[in-house]
Amino acid sequence: MQILQCCNVHKTYQSGENAVHALRDITVSFEQGEVCAVRGPSGSGKSTLLHILGGLEYPTSGNVLYQNEDLFSYNDNQLSILRRRRFGFVFQAYNLVQELTASENILLPVLLDKKKPDEKYISMLIELLGIGDRLHHLPSALSGGQQQRVSIARALANKPAILFADEPTGNLDGKTGREVLSLLKYVSKEMGVSLILVTHDLHIAEQAERIITLEDGRVTQDSGRREA
Ligand SMILES: Nc1ncnc2c1ncn2[C@@H]1O[C@H](COP(=O)(O)OP(=O)(O)OP(=O)(O)O)[C@@H](O)[C@H]1O
Ligand SMILES: [Mg+2]
Repeated sequence: MQILQCCNVHKTYQSGENAVHALRDITVSFEQGEVCAVRGPSGSGKSTLLHILGGLEYPTSGNVLYQNEDLFSYNDNQLSILRRRRFGFVFQAYNLVQELTASENILLPVLLDKKKPDEKYISMLIELLGIGDRLHHLPSALSGGQQQRVSIARALANKPAILFADEPTGNLDGKTGREVLSLLKYVSKEMGVSLILVTHDLHIAEQAERIITLEDGRVTQDSGRREA
């Protein structure tokens, strides 16, 4: 089943006198449970595409359909509720709240949604991600790899349908990056969550089932789903 469809999306930024065409007519769909990498050189539009697919940014024209519903037909409040319940985000810089412990960071999206945490599910996430002994630490007392694992747990806390990750290993050394990437893939598969992963790194992209290549705001290659 196709969970997310991006139809004829353009994004143009106005930068002084100049128009920057970050995305030029992108049409691409994602299946439920698929692990897909989006790669391409710096400035090719990867982050812009991820933000639009995840409803964090509006396209200049075109649509994004989540389960056949147009994301951008929702008002801001409806869109932020949908994002919080159905999407998870992992960023290069972890984006943890520095004043909260690891465990408080993980529970934050659930509490923001005024829901009671599913203790069993959260404990399972913590165990899968191997962060059980770091839960009461502040982010500043955690290594980069540990912070990213906490941010993955936070992104999955609300049982999203799609996980969006923008260069999740970009701040990590090679070995830690590979460990975090394997975990990200593993937990996505375990939870049946679709993973859309932005990276400029071909080695990382090759671990996905599908690789979409962007160049200058266009899709220039799409491997389709294959064995990773
Ligand atoms: N808010 C903005 N205002 C103006 N131009 C922008 C803005 N955001 C992105 N751009 C431009 O859009 C183009 C695509 O940017 P984007 O950040 O999507 O690239 P990227 O592929 O993620 O690059 P990187 O690998 O360096 O992260 C670039 O030319 C960038 O300068
Ligand atoms: Mg980027």
